[in-house]
Amino acid sequence: MNNSISGFSKLSKEEKINWIAKEYFANSTEAVATIKQYWNNDAQLQQLHDEFIENTITNFYLPMGIAPNFLINGKYYSVPMVIEESSVVAAAAKSAKFWSTRGGFKATVLNTEKIGQVHFLFNGDSVKLQQFFNSIKGNLLASTESITQNMQKRGGGITSLELRDKTSELENYFQLHATFETKDSMGANFINSCLEQLAKSLKEEAQNYNGFTEEERDIVIVMSILSNYVPNCIVRVEVSCKVEDLAEKKIENPKEFAEKLVQAIRIAEIEPFRAVTHNKGIMNGVDAVVLATGNDFRAVEAGVHAYASREGHYSSLSHAKVENGIFTFWMEIPLALGTVGGLTSLHPLVKMALEILGKPSAPELMQIVAVAGLAQNFAALRSLTTTGIQEGHMKMHINNILNQYQTTTEERKIIRNHFENNTISHASVVAFIENLRK
Ligand code: MEV
Repeated sequence: MNNSISGFSKLSKEEKINWIAKEYFANSTEAVATIKQYWNNDAQLQQLHDEFIENTITNFYLPMGIAPNFLINGKYYSVPMVIEESSVVAAAAKSAKFWSTRGGFKATVLNTEKIGQVHFLFNGDSVKLQQFFNSIKGNLLASTESITQNMQKRGGGITSLELRDKTSELENYFQLHATFETKDSMGANFINSCLEQLAKSLKEEAQNYNGFTEEERDIVIVMSILSNYVPNCIVRVEVSCKVEDLAEKKIENPKEFAEKLVQAIRIAEIEPFRAVTHNKGIMNGVDAVVLATGNDFRAVEAGVHAYASREGHYSSLSHAKVENGIFTFWMEIPLALGTVGGLTSLHPLVKMALEILGKPSAPELMQIVAVAGLAQNFAALRSLTTTGIQEGHMKMHINNILNQYQTTTEERKIIRNHFENNTISHASVVAFIENLRK
């Protein structure tokens, strides 16, 4: 079957759905019903969601949960998390509770610099290009004034602009490398608008510069775009306590636990195969809060993993040590987040999430998000180095199996009772359900 179509975007929503249903499903009536089942009854709300992207046919639900009891810099937060993976919210809540009785999380924003670049080609004398740049830098910045005015009023704007010679790596390749302060907005639109203006002005100035030859005047702008690598937009989060205070039900020998946890982190520091999974656990917490607050998780993911490789090999984002009987567990990660603009005032649940967090500034949100990541990492390492990860995972996974088999309340009771003392695996739960129903 040839499933291609031209002019799909021009079809009405109803026509798009009908086309998809007929093209890909044997029972197209059922497919249409499933798609429409997820529409919102409130037409206005549905329209809002339809217009977030193109070619919308329906909504895709993800659960939004709350991890309460996060004590961060002496203040309690209930943290909204949007994630499909069972056990992540439970693990975050458990970690939050654990550390709330041991001094809570300390979080500090170290810096908030964003970066953008105009990538261009210049075929000529690089010394002359630098002289040219020095003479027109003021004009370049002045040309962005109508864009930067409002941001400047809020204390932000372009904080530096330099010319970078990259010709040793790529022939004729230079950059305008700009840094930005974007206050409470993530700043992508602001940065890209500034960069496109800088590029336009750069080209115009070059065309009128007497010091250049004809060829040198013809600067080729390749592209102008922000960087999602933000190594100077860093938040540091930390927990610490006396080693003996780590004791609790599952941590009978706190000294051994602390040593194992430090060892687990050393492994993630030197072994990329482990580091990726270790950091994935951190991102379970980070992404869930980033999503709930309407931020761009792809940008965060790209930036964080680049940062994890900054020393030339992929390594752990978190670190731990035991010194003078004190266990310290910490992490520094880059996070370019916004609490104004974008989805933050458009999506009703994003608005709610930010309200639950007390309408944080962007730096405060950086702290909360990073704490969620560290909490998640602690929970994962605690399970991995004690009972193993499957115990908790399978307990949560059992719910998915019970739903999948559409078990009754009565059946659920029996199944749960049985698995209190028996090993949970997908196969064992399924076998038990089937046996129960015989
Ligand atoms: C699963 O989503 C995350 C973990 O694999 C993280 C880790 O191994 O540290 C449990």
